[in-house]
Amino acid sequence: MDSKLNQDFIRYEQVEKRQTYHLAEDPREQFDEEFQIRICDMRQPSFAQDLGDALHEIGFAILEGHGVDPALYDEAETKIVEMFERLSLDDKMRFRAQRHGSVNQGYFPIHETSKQHPDLVEGWVFCRRAFDIPSPGPSVVEGWVFCRRAFERPAEFWPLPQYAEFFRQIAGAQERLILPVMQAMLTYLGCDPHLYDEKLTGTNFGLRLNYYPPMSREMDDSGAARLLGHEDVDLFTFLPAPRVEGLQILNRRNMKWIRLNAPRGSIILNTGDYMQRISNDLFPSTTHRVSKPRDPQQRTETRTSFPMAIYVWEDEVLEVLPGLTNPKYAPVKAIEFHTSITSKFYGDDYAVKG
Ligand SMILES: [Fe+2]
Repeated sequence: MDSKLNQDFIRYEQVEKRQTYHLAEDPREQFDEEFQIRICDMRQPSFAQDLGDALHEIGFAILEGHGVDPALYDEAETKIVEMFERLSLDDKMRFRAQRHGSVNQGYFPIHETSKQHPDLVEGWVFCRRAFDIPSPGPSVVEGWVFCRRAFERPAEFWPLPQYAEFFRQIAGAQERLILPVMQAMLTYLGCDPHLYDEKLTGTNFGLRLNYYPPMSREMDDSGAARLLGHEDVDLFTFLPAPRVEGLQILNRRNMKWIRLNAPRGSIILNTGDYMQRISNDLFPSTTHRVSKPRDPQQRTETRTSFPMAIYVWEDEVLEVLPGLTNPKYAPVKAIEFHTSITSKFYGDDYAVKG
């Protein structure tokens, strides 16, 4: 049994993480059968309070009343299976992930999501530049001014154009939720709700398509997890509720894992490291993972998921929000913050100094 711990990589972290857990699953772990992740309805006047309470408590919430057509989510599952299964490994490897700005974008083969420990998922990350979604304004990156429009060349990022066309509908629909969600979080924290409107208009995001193949006996016995325990690096993540069991969240209060089964059509929302940093730890970046299903029959099913991580552009500065008392963290450039953390996944040379 590999017993690597998150704390073995603690030098990479840019926010406080006191919790200790095994990266892969461990038979000694315990489960929290009682804790319920709160459902927050975006149509309710109490949304900001409900969302803030949920995130402050555990870093996760379930969004309802978000207005995204659930039929899109059903179709996405079919499209992901089709895309990963119809392409040969050679076809996929032509798009192998590379760092562009902060984010490692492109295809990740099975066992190679990170250097930390093998896991049982293939992934494909598409950022804003992979979608033909117009975004305003020039961007200053490492001293150069680019027109963001110049980054948008979908054919370079997609193996087949129909997938670009389909997934841009999901990215576009969920992009409309970014400002209302951020405004609710800022309201809860006692800040000007519009403080991030400009930064998050046309901001960067990463839509990650995950394909978990059916588990063979060999995979099942290997000790690998479907996806290792980790915290998201971003401001927050939208994850349309997956169909197949597996998502687990670490409750830091009792160090037990919560099995999260959100209603179909809902969106799971969790806060990441950027948000923990600017909220001065009020909204934690909570550990989660994808475990194998308890029912052996379900392990033979393909699992898909498509989280969308919301970032600020790499030239922005992450600063503790105004009005929060006793700031623990100094301002830091997003690219330095982001790549320092993700060097734990991709190697020390991934880090970019601000
Ligand atoms: Fe995650």
